[in-house]
Amino acid sequence: MIILIVDDSKLNRVYAKNFVENSTIEAEILLAADGQEALDILNSNTIDVVLLDIVMPVMNGLETLKQIRLNKSWDHVKVLMYSSITEQEMLRACFELGASDFIHKPIEEVEFISRLRNAIRQKNNELALKNYIEEIEKQKSIIMETNVHLIQAEKMAAIGQLAAGVAHEINNPIGFVLSNFEVLKDYMKDLYEFYERSVFLNHHQSEITQDDEEDINEVFEDIANIFEETKIGLDRVTQIVKSLRNFSRIDLTQELDYYDLNEGLKDTLIVANNNIKYNAYVNVEYGDIPQIMAIGSEINQVILNLVLNAVDSIREKNGNEMGHLYLKTYKKNNYIVLSVLDYGIGIADEHIKDLFNPFFTTKDVGQGMGLGLSVSYDIVVNKHKGKFEVESDEESGTEFRMYLPIE
Ligand SMILES: Nc1ncnc2c1ncn2[C@@H]1O[C@H](COP(=O)(O)OP(=O)(O)OP(=O)(O)O)[C@@H](O)[C@H]1O
Ligand SMILES: [Mg+2]
Repeated sequence: MIILIVDDSKLNRVYAKNFVENSTIEAEILLAADGQEALDILNSNTIDVVLLDIVMPVMNGLETLKQIRLNKSWDHVKVLMYSSITEQEMLRACFELGASDFIHKPIEEVEFISRLRNAIRQKNNELALKNYIEEIEKQKSIIMETNVHLIQAEKMAAIGQLAAGVAHEINNPIGFVLSNFEVLKDYMKDLYEFYERSVFLNHHQSEITQDDEEDINEVFEDIANIFEETKIGLDRVTQIVKSLRNFSRIDLTQELDYYDLNEGLKDTLIVANNNIKYNAYVNVEYGDIPQIMAIGSEINQVILNLVLNAVDSIREKNGNEMGHLYLKTYKKNNYIVLSVLDYGIGIADEHIKDLFNPFFTTKDVGQGMGLGLSVSYDIVVNKHKGKFEVESDEESGTEFRMYLPIE
């Protein structure tokens, strides 16, 4: 603690200094005889408290106070004015210019020391508060950074989980497209043989038999089917790839953009199809809802989390038997809503409050990290100013509702 005493009277300076030194206040004391000298000392020392006389030569107390308050780096300095002037106007000017307190001259020991102590206490409190706020800010940025990492990790885990399913989904149509190609190759051989034979027959002025004609007609019919089927297979692959790209929006930055919840739901269901189709029949009602501004890839990630949780819960209840999953989008007040309803195992009452906590999971090790819902909460509630509602009982299953504000 460094206290600067500014007074043009040497006697007053010595008085004040003695008072402080005789008290229990632990401080180093510097002295200045006028305002200008005080500013010079402030410039080259870290002063905590200034005791400032008002009537002084060179630069008076009010002007000095004004200069101190103009300098941002001295914001933390407490200035106590002391003077024999008792005019109300002067007092008001001191406080308006940023003085912390006012001490009457001639200074009286008890009042002087207690007001000084007060200023020091105030100063220490402010410092503690400042440190506290800095600490909170630091923690906040650590938490935010951790959150970004968690979202990233969760996303990678989800994509990993999906990758196998998507590979499988693409493999099927590619499989039959390939086998169709084999058949086409054989047919081409048949057609070529037929062509050669017709040329030969033509040369020998003989006729194509009825059998030949029927065979070849069959080949043509089948070829038409093959083209039709192959087209369906290739369309399916194209659609899966497109949905995968929409789902992750790899080509876009993580910024707000127009987002259609119905499209997001459609893409997510295609991408997650392989993870759903062995456990649940899916019933979807796409409502008439407006587009909103959102980070699409993140909302899709939330949809995926809700859907995969629902499927897990159905699987846990039904084992190998198929269950039911109902998805619905609609508009309610100023929100668009996605409802994910499953007839799975339900959630115990005592777990409801923990659902959105990071690492809360009831799944076996390796089955769930307990991150899906906490990351979803961050995305929907913190980032998109939306909300969640959950209703569940262990008899009839669970409904999660995700609300996203329209504006
Ligand atoms: N539809 C649901 N039915 C029953 N329980 C659910 C449902 N959704 C969530 N839960 C419960 O909430 C817990 C937390 O879900 P969350 O998605 O956060 O983590 P997880 O699914 O366990 O793991 P992760 O999502 O990280 O793979 C689950 O373990 C489960 O107990
Ligand atoms: Mg989950």
